[in-house]
Parts: sequence; C-alpha cells; structure tokens
Amino acid sequence: MKIGIFDSGLGGLSVLNEALSKLSEHEFLYYADVKNVPYGQKSRDEILKFSFDAVKFLIENGSNAVVVACNTATSVAIKDIRAKLSVPIIGMEPAIKKAHDLSYNDALKTLVIATPVTVNGAKLKELIINLHAKDKTELLALPRLVNFAENGEFDTENVKSYLKEELAKFDLSKFGFLVLGCTHFNYFKDSLREILPPNISIIDGNEGTINRLVSELGLTISNANLTSNVKFFYSGAEMYEQSELEKISRNLARLEKMRAIC
Ligand code: DGL
Repeated sequence: MKIGIFDSGLGGLSVLNEALSKLSEHEFLYYADVKNVPYGQKSRDEILKFSFDAVKFLIENGSNAVVVACNTATSVAIKDIRAKLSVPIIGMEPAIKKAHDLSYNDALKTLVIATPVTVNGAKLKELIINLHAKDKTELLALPRLVNFAENGEFDTENVKSYLKEELAKFDLSKFGFLVLGCTHFNYFKDSLREILPPNISIIDGNEGTINRLVSELGLTISNANLTSNVKFFYSGAEMYEQSELEKISRNLARLEKMRAIC
C-alpha cells in the first residue's frame, strides 16, 4: 500500500518516523509544503487551499490513504478534504485525550502548545469541551518553534530562552502534562525536558495517529525503519537534491532520539 503523509514542512517527519518503525512493508510519499510553511500564521482560506492541493497531489501520485501530519491543517481543512476526496484521510489533533486518560490526579492540569491557528481554532475548543476539560486545560501558541525547526535550530540558547520565557507564564507545579499540538515541536523534546519540572510528562500524538491509520486500514504491524521506502516531495516536486535528502535523514535521526523522551 502507498501511504501519503503531508505537513506544511518537516514537522510531519515525526509521524513518518513513527510510521516507518511500524509499517516498514509499505511505501510512503512525504509531502512538505516548504514554499508555504509556516501555516500557523496564515489565513484559514490559504491553509484550506494549500492543504487540499497537497492531499490531492498525494492521491494523484498513487496514495491509497493520506495522513495529514499537521495539527494546523487538520484544524482548518480536514472536513473539507474528506468531503471532496475519496481515500481514507487520517487527521491529527493535540493528544489531550491521551493526557486525560493517563491522568491519575484530576487536579493536574494540561498545557497544550500549538500554532496560533490551532490554539484559536474552533476544533480544539470543541475537543476540550467534549472532554469536559475546560477547567484543566491551558493553551499556549509557540509560533517561533516552527521557524526554528525549519531552520534546523533545535537545542540552541535562542530556543531555550524562548521556551523558558513562554513557559514562565504558567505555574508549572499545577500541571501534569505538556501536549505537543504541533508536529514541528517534536524536535524540541530534549530542550523541553531540560526546562520542565519532572512532574510534567510530554505527550505527542504520533503513536495515536499511526495506530489510527493501522486500525482504519486494517494494516499489519512489522518493525523496521526503512527510509528507502519513502519518496520526498517539496511543494509538489520530487526532491532529489542530495543536501536536502541528507537534511531529512539528519532530522529523522534526531526525531528517533526524541521519540523516547516523555
Ligand atoms: N506542523 C504543523 C502542525 O502540526 C504546523 C506548523 C506550521 O506550518 O505553522 O501544526
């Protein structure tokens, strides 16, 4: 089976990495919309158009199913994409439910970090209301992390002081979970772990998303990590440039290290 994975940029490689570790027998097409990243500060109409074009491209290039490995695109465009395109489309939402399922203490709060579009979107508000979690969930937009990630700046002093300054807005002793509501944020798990107190667990949505793909398509899990089964596309053109393919490999290696941090 051919599975398309789409993100505004290189954040969705965290979802691809999870997929490669479980579904090595399948082929993957990874679409990074590098011409238009970051989505998190664009208009809803722009995000709708970019996301639709990307998913359509993946289907036209043979994908039997598509994972929208972008919380921002899911928040704005998933309903529209599903209504207009006919293959299974798996979206991605901040894993607040996982945080709540893991919570052994109802008094512990959850901090969701995401892009401004996701934080201000109706979809996240609906999710929080449906989980009856309004009183114990706080939201924080961290748009600069997307630019840091795209520029390959992961654990520098710049990144750490930005995180420290933003997280200082909260009394972290009251929180049990930090939910990564943007796939780009997976690159910063080591810096986040360094800054956050030990009472806070870091939760991402990668495993849950791939589990949903497996169950919706009835796939069989087989372990390995074969990047050879992946074709990479940058905004609609196949990427053959050696330096970019090496950057992608380095990013995947970093994300594999980040996977164990929680
Ligand atoms: N990686 C995306 C997400 O999961 C969005 C990053 C951006 O383009 O702003 O939300």
